[in-house]
Amino acid sequence: MPTTSTVDRDRLARLMAAELDRFARAHPRSGKLHEQAKASLVDGVPMNWMVRWAGPWPPFVDQAGGAHIRCVDGHDYVDFCLGDTGAMAGHGPSPTVAAVERQLRRGITHMLPTDDAIAAGEDLARRFGLPLWQFTITATDANRFVIRLARHLTGRSKIVVHDHCYHGSVDETFATRAADGRVIASRGSIGPPVDPALTTRVVDFNDVADLERALADEQVAAVLIEPALTNVGIVLPEPGYLDAVREITRRTGTLLIIDETHTICAGPGGMTGRDGLEPDLLVIGKTIGGGIPAGTYGMTRDVADRVRPLIDVDDSDIGGIGGTLAGYALSTAAIRATLGEVLTSEAFGRMIPLAERWEVGASEVIARRDVPWHVARLGARAEYHFVATPPRTGSEQAAHMDPVLERFLHLWAMNRGVLMTPFHNMALTSPATTAADVDRHTEVFDEAVAALTA
Ligand SMILES: Cc1ncc(COP(=O)(O)O)c(C=O)c1O
Repeated sequence: MPTTSTVDRDRLARLMAAELDRFARAHPRSGKLHEQAKASLVDGVPMNWMVRWAGPWPPFVDQAGGAHIRCVDGHDYVDFCLGDTGAMAGHGPSPTVAAVERQLRRGITHMLPTDDAIAAGEDLARRFGLPLWQFTITATDANRFVIRLARHLTGRSKIVVHDHCYHGSVDETFATRAADGRVIASRGSIGPPVDPALTTRVVDFNDVADLERALADEQVAAVLIEPALTNVGIVLPEPGYLDAVREITRRTGTLLIIDETHTICAGPGGMTGRDGLEPDLLVIGKTIGGGIPAGTYGMTRDVADRVRPLIDVDDSDIGGIGGTLAGYALSTAAIRATLGEVLTSEAFGRMIPLAERWEVGASEVIARRDVPWHVARLGARAEYHFVATPPRTGSEQAAHMDPVLERFLHLWAMNRGVLMTPFHNMALTSPATTAADVDRHTEVFDEAVAALTA
């Protein structure tokens, strides 16, 4: 990965060594658990992404509540990672906990609907403007299912994604472009089932001409996008870009799928609700269950009417869409409570100004310490990036990533009671986050940047 050096690397290495030492001394119990875990868990963690936490081992959690986590060594953290958005509703929001407790006693799963599913579908329809919904366990599943539906419905084989996208562990989306423009597997893609050039075309975010070219031969079933890139760090759409995406997809008979799993941070209806976008299909997962596994996809009545005659009812359980626990009672109870009572418009009205406060605080540090960085924000989500001008494509953004510097800033913060997302500097505010939590980040970020630039 390219690294633009915006700081002195020797100083960074020295500071990093001191912070690793500080973490190790302050987290002996987590260290011991990690050693024990290595005997039964690969690399001592239950899921491979957890090796990306900035310390020599991750802090093991004792308890989480609201916007805070306490580790087994007794340290309290302001949590801006919030389970990489899985806990965007805050840890253990009371309405979700109450609904889940109630449902646990009434039957967890039974392959039959409950009225919670109706309330959840109605809430989603109001937020996103699409009338018909289906539930899944994860956003990955939902993306896989809508891709299959789009291919089935259009009879076309290819999908289009943005370069440097992430939509979950969905085979078709692990694609990027080589310097000569060929579609190749993206960096780190593990065991692609086929050459991604067979399934996927890749376009640059904010590049209308690129999309025109990709859709011109009308071989593409669907364009699957986040309306702002988030997983390579926030890259916002330029004025008119998303309108152009909609116009070109309509003109070429290509379905438009919007994945709001992360961009829900823009407001109760994500960017679709906020900006009046008109997808044919929409996917969202993670946040909506308040921490209970939950994903969903919605569609227009037109898509539903066109796809229904193509699927034989006797084959509906073996067609490659759905799952035994998808839409199960515990999950739909959690979605109903989380959307209806936690991630409300009123909550976003508090979360977004707090993310603005985070943005202002971090931007002031950047200006005061005179480093060539900037802060990007989308609603309740904000991040610092190691380049002065906001990039307009995923590859421009990726070129300015600096994993060593990121890791140092996250470790410095963690050592002083602030958790940042280990993947992309993301700071997310929840309904439980306070101004004091945000100011704590500004304070430790200032100290870190001061140490780097002193
Ligand atoms: C935009 C987007 N879509 C889908 C997913 C997949 O979510 P999950 O891992 O819960 O399936 C992610 C995960 O980070 C995501 O960022």
